[in-house]
Amino acid sequence: MLGYNILAESVKMSLDKNRVTLTAFDESLELIGKGRSAYVFRIRKTDKALKVFFPHHTNVAREEAEIYKMLQDISYYPTLYDSGRNYLVIDFIEGQTLFECLVNGTHVSQDQIKEIDHALHLARQKGLNPSDIHLRNIFITSEQEIKVIDVARFRQTKQCRQWKDLKSAFYKAYVKPFFPKKIPASVLNLIAALYKKSLNPNVALGDSK
Ligand SMILES: Nc1ncnc2c1ncn2[C@@H]1O[C@H](COP(=O)(O)OP(=O)(O)O)[C@@H](O)[C@H]1O
Ligand SMILES: [Mg+2]
Repeated sequence: MLGYNILAESVKMSLDKNRVTLTAFDESLELIGKGRSAYVFRIRKTDKALKVFFPHHTNVAREEAEIYKMLQDISYYPTLYDSGRNYLVIDFIEGQTLFECLVNGTHVSQDQIKEIDHALHLARQKGLNPSDIHLRNIFITSEQEIKVIDVARFRQTKQCRQWKDLKSAFYKAYVKPFFPKKIPASVLNLIAALYKKSLNPNVALGDSK
């Protein structure tokens, strides 16, 4: 297998008016996700994931690597294997994000919500400030374990209320018998966009990631 840095270098992107397009990547990589700052690949035949940051977000790689290093003894966060100028190598997580659970109608229990709370509490005990906690950054693995990813903003000082609001929606709506347990992705994306706009009225609708 090629070195992680070579694999990261094989990932080519083009940037046009802040819109990023993936143009090439090594055949040993399988695209598994795209967020607001990076493309994420599974390294085939391994249980590792390679996160390659967009050209204008490469500075986040170092910050996120440093934060993962602080979280390495907490099982709720993936192991960090390597990091470089524009990439991280972490555990590939087999399972579904909370977003996928809602889209696929996979039940999310109150105990799982409590466990996510505990995972965030343990990060706080390390002096971190868990932020950017949303449906796509939390996994329920196929072994029914909780994993939290995308920790890049855990050192920001600004308070982030996303998890508090998600939890309150869970207890006020999701647990009620009448609430649909399966929600189309388009509806979830719209809710996320409206939510984001309510937090920051200057943000244009549409960027729901
Ligand atoms: N280790 C992983 N295992 C499996 N899927 C992942 C992993 N890391 C990220 N993903 C997928 O890729 C998406 C984007 O990754 P993320 O780290 O959140 O990027 P960003 O910082 O750009 O938001 C996630 O929402 C998830 O669906
Ligand atoms: Mg993310």
